[in-house]
Amino acid sequence: MHYTFITFGVFGAVLFLVCSEAAFAKLTNAKCESYNQSWVSIHYCRLKAYSRNKTSLNVNLTLSEPAYNIFLHLKMLKRANGYKPFLFDYNFDACEFMRRRNQPVAKIVWNLIKDVSTVNHTCPYMGLQVLSDFHLIDIPLPLPTGEYLLLMDWFFDGKPQFASNVYFAFKEDFTTSSSRHG
Ligand SMILES: *[C@@H]1O[C@H](CO)[C@@H](O)[C@H](O)[C@H]1NC(C)=O
Ligand SMILES: *[C@@H]1O[C@H](CO)[C@@H](O)[C@H](O)[C@H]1NC(C)=O
Ligand SMILES: *[C@@H]1O[C@H](CO)[C@@H](O)[C@H](O)[C@H]1NC(C)=O
Ligand SMILES: *[C@@H]1O[C@H](CO)[C@@H](O)[C@H](O)[C@H]1NC(C)=O
Repeated sequence: MHYTFITFGVFGAVLFLVCSEAAFAKLTNAKCESYNQSWVSIHYCRLKAYSRNKTSLNVNLTLSEPAYNIFLHLKMLKRANGYKPFLFDYNFDACEFMRRRNQPVAKIVWNLIKDVSTVNHTCPYMGLQVLSDFHLIDIPLPLPTGEYLLLMDWFFDGKPQFASNVYFAFKEDFTTSSSRHG
């Protein structure tokens, strides 16, 4: 495991200081791709637009064989003349995470999706996996306003099997950002 940006301490400290009532987040695009059709079939990976400000993500995929050894490469990018690496880029053992919740950033993502996904159990994973009607209304992270891309590359037995990449826009709450930065 490697961390290219060691920012978790700072993260943790500001996390609970951010009162983000007026902050605003929205999913803007989603792209999934299977690298191994014989193991991972992606049936559906799409945003649904409810209004200009509200979208939801639905993902539906099938694992034809059980996955016992799963690693996730989680990488965030921020748009600035193309997408540039931002904040974190690391790999971790997803099976261990499901047992121990031992990754701070992954835990944030997990807390956002745990109630709307079928992945609330430990390894192995097999069969239909669904993320239903996931709304990104707020992000419990002190992000600057901008457009972001969260790349998620999934490895089974050490080999890349599929990608699930999510684009989102975030608008800072300027009433709290001044106190946070000052
Ligand atoms: C693709 O999936 C099959 C299982 O259906 C597996 O046996 C094979 O090792 C996988 N290939 C790669 C390159 O991961
Ligand atoms: C997932 O997609 C498959 C294939 O399109 C479909 O048959 C199935 O009903 C979907 N399941 C859910 C829970 O959305
Ligand atoms: C949509 O978001 C914009 C930007 O934050 C905000 O000004 C507007 O009031 C929102 N509209 C609705 C219907 O929530
Ligand atoms: C699944 O969800 C229940 C209820 O939220 C929780 O108590 C349990 O610990 C979760 N199990 C796993 C493996 O995440």
